[in-house]
Amino acid sequence: MKNRVNKCCDWTLERFPLSKLWNEHMAEYYAPKNFNFWYFFGSLALLMLVNQFITGILLTMNYKPDAKLAFDSVEYIMRDVNWGWLVRYMHSTGASAFFILIYLHMFRGMMYGSYKKPRELIWIFGMLLFVCLMAEAFMGYLLPWGQMSYWGAQVIISLFSAIPVIGDELSLWIRGDYVISDATLNRFFAFHVIAVPLALIILVFLHIVALHEVGSNNPDGIEIKESKDPWGKPVDGIPFHPYYTVKDIVGVAVFLFFFCTVIFYMPEMGGYFLENANFIPADPLMTPEHIEPSWYFTPFYAILRAVPDKFAGVIAMGGSIVVLFLLPWLDRCPVKSIRYRGGIYKKALALFVVSFLVLGYLGTQPATPTFTMIARVFTVIYFAFFLLMPIYTRWEKPKAVPKRVTHEPDAEEKYAALVEAFEEMTTHEPLKTSWGATAFPVSPNKEGIKHVLTRLLEKLKRSFE
Ligand code: HEM
Repeated sequence: MKNRVNKCCDWTLERFPLSKLWNEHMAEYYAPKNFNFWYFFGSLALLMLVNQFITGILLTMNYKPDAKLAFDSVEYIMRDVNWGWLVRYMHSTGASAFFILIYLHMFRGMMYGSYKKPRELIWIFGMLLFVCLMAEAFMGYLLPWGQMSYWGAQVIISLFSAIPVIGDELSLWIRGDYVISDATLNRFFAFHVIAVPLALIILVFLHIVALHEVGSNNPDGIEIKESKDPWGKPVDGIPFHPYYTVKDIVGVAVFLFFFCTVIFYMPEMGGYFLENANFIPADPLMTPEHIEPSWYFTPFYAILRAVPDKFAGVIAMGGSIVVLFLLPWLDRCPVKSIRYRGGIYKKALALFVVSFLVLGYLGTQPATPTFTMIARVFTVIYFAFFLLMPIYTRWEKPKAVPKRVTHEPDAEEKYAALVEAFEEMTTHEPLKTSWGATAFPVSPNKEGIKHVLTRLLEKLKRSFE
């Protein structure tokens, strides 16, 4: 039997370069040895893509893309189909988890300058993935045919009508009708189930091929290919398999813990992952009191609402995504990683993150005059981060970048350092008890505490410099 299996493998390998591909992209693909926590999110995004595909196929087996049947078919999946509730929650929670992972993945790129030469194309493919992902989520959201599905799509598609000259015709063309209707549902279903997923697969393939051509960046932002051993292997690289396959499995385990907690205990996530209004069937004659998109679109939605003119708002919203594409050319700093960049970029990035979060929050709230004012301020900060980048990244004085990757203490070393600091901050002076025995109680050591705190403050100061 074993012999037959071996023969079958040999027969295949003679005709298909499986082991060559495996070696090139896994066993002999050298990745920097200093990957940290931030490097988990790419493989986790891949995991979510697979999750969305599998659960999506299972949902499609019982879903009906018909305006009269869609809402009820989802209820049928939730109540009557075996494990249907689990499949649906895995898909809906998966959508939100996907965006959380992608935002963290993009933030990692911004921290370590992973979009800079020679990785511009990885970034561009990534941004195209992001746009496709938004389209995929937007169209998928119409399918349950609830109130928010219907009215959310109505608001977003009507934005196209703000475009001069072609606007009205364009939104009519997208909807396939004068209002959101069965025709819209059918075409969104086709795009959500086949067209956009196909584009996603192709883009992920291109993203990874482009990555493996130039090699991964790392938290130090140095090129490991520049220091090789006599055998031509990067001295600061380790084979992706088994080192990072095993490490990524740890990331997957931790992620699944949180993912399953949401699925089993809080699938609606307080109305953020599954909105309350979407438990009511779509009614074209009744507008919900407050229409808001899913949480992952809200920063861009807040920018749209911050601009008084509808068309200018659409341009600003589109521009807030387009500027992300331009990042590799806006950043003029010769250094990649935030570890060696000047203080200006660190503060600018922090401000950008705050503006993104605040805009995200404001997008979920009604557009009161106060909130609109705040949204305007943060929209300006959002754009200033990008548009002033060519100026402030030239001003800043980067630190010297090491030739080789630096050593980051691992959990064991951190634990040992903690124990050492604890020992330094405490004393074990012998004490005679009333019954004559000697005890060694732990008591604070003022000198030690002062020493440890001074060291900590110095370290904190250095990290801000
Ligand atoms: C479906 C969505 C995506 C998937 C499945 C995906 C997957 C991956 C994977 C597996 C890696 C290698 C591992 C890692 O470095 O974490 C990677 C690297 C990278 N991705 Fe993505 N990605 C996606 C979207 C994006 C987006 C939206 C961007 C940014 C616009 C992006 C930018 C990058 C960059 C710059 C790298 C190289 C990082 C480095 O070498 O430091 N990706 N991606």
